[in-house]
Amino acid sequence: MSDTKHKIIIAVDGFSSCGKSTFAKAIAARLGYIFIDTGAMYRAVTLHALEHGAIRSGMVDEEAVVKLLDRISITFRFNPERGASDIYVNGDLAEGKIRTIEVSNCVSRVSAIPEVRRRLVALQQEMGRRRGVVMDGRDIGTVVFPDAELKLFMTADPAVRAQRRYKELTAKGDQVTLEEIERNIRERDKIDMTRAVSPLRQADDAVVLDNSHMSVDEQMAWFMDLYHRRTQG
Ligand code: DC
Repeated sequence: MSDTKHKIIIAVDGFSSCGKSTFAKAIAARLGYIFIDTGAMYRAVTLHALEHGAIRSGMVDEEAVVKLLDRISITFRFNPERGASDIYVNGDLAEGKIRTIEVSNCVSRVSAIPEVRRRLVALQQEMGRRRGVVMDGRDIGTVVFPDAELKLFMTADPAVRAQRRYKELTAKGDQVTLEEIERNIRERDKIDMTRAVSPLRQADDAVVLDNSHMSVDEQMAWFMDLYHRRTQG
């Protein structure tokens, strides 16, 4: 349950694979808020583009991706078994399919397309309209909800991030190497920070959380202290 009657928006931005989703999900469960993974939305568009020939041999045809946007409906449905929402593309469960290395390799380029961002940002703003959400992404505190009451900017050492993603993917049986993942993470950081539209950057009023050497429990304790100071102070 929420500790306050007044529901707020919590923006969680930061680098790839530094545990943003795990952490944002845990915060949402603790506060009784809705968790929205905006990276999953960019991944869903990328998956759809891969499946419909708008990305071939790693080449993203921007015009073709934009054309597909009118035919994609992205929704979330709560899955009690996972304790989080699964993403659906045109009514089909896409949760497992959006986290492959193939999607990861193309998603930064798809998310750099201005029209893709315009559409998804509008959808995210609509999803957070009633507040009481924890939204994780790259531009939540800067573009989607610049008025969010609490903004976190998460970061961690790239080698630690690669290890975490490696564990996650190999546990699922994916055939990947640590080097491949580290390369993908560094490449995505670069694209995310240098793209023309809504580059990844820390909002001026965001609080930095470097979780390279912190457990989820330690992060939660740190966050709840911050949350209480902000909402009751
Ligand atoms: O959080 P993630 O790694 O699942 O995100 C996938 C990609 O989507 C990431 O490379 C950057 C992009 N993204 C974005 O540009 N803006 C967001 N709000 C969320 C994700």
